[in-house]
Amino acid sequence: MFKLGPLKKMTDEEKYRYMLILLKGQLSSEQDEIANLSNASAIVMTCVDKLNWAGFYILRGKELVLGPFQGLPACNRIQMGKGVCGTSLANRTTQKIEDVHVFPGHIACDEASRSELVIPIVKNDVPYGVLDLDSPYVGRFTELEEKYLIKFVEVLNKYINWQNIL
Ligand code: SME
Repeated sequence: MFKLGPLKKMTDEEKYRYMLILLKGQLSSEQDEIANLSNASAIVMTCVDKLNWAGFYILRGKELVLGPFQGLPACNRIQMGKGVCGTSLANRTTQKIEDVHVFPGHIACDEASRSELVIPIVKNDVPYGVLDLDSPYVGRFTELEEKYLIKFVEVLNKYINWQNIL
């Protein structure tokens, strides 16, 4: 059973370190990719404050298709190169968007979303998808969140066999 207690007194950075420990615990104790990505999205939602959505889009052909997530129902498919997610994977760059209303082509799934952090998932030079975080606050994401969510994807890449879910 997951206990929230330890998180309550932590600074943001301590929470993000703990988030990586929780993720490694999950990934080293289970091999099923869907179970692992589902709990990975729940770990992000639990450890990062002020989010309204956290989850995965997986590249299938030329489209990103919705994967395990936490939050309101979201767009099922995003074209490569479109929106914040498609831009992140097409360019293989993290997108830290201060205000989604001024990002050209932002795809609104939850109207509450005001800022967004998207980390591309690329392993052995093959693009597999993105990790997407949305916040209802403008400017929610700083270099601290960027640093630890990039580490989060690095840990995922060590354990997850993305080929199994294509
Ligand atoms: N805003 C994203 C779409 C996905 S939702 O935020 C869950 C985008 O522009 O790609």
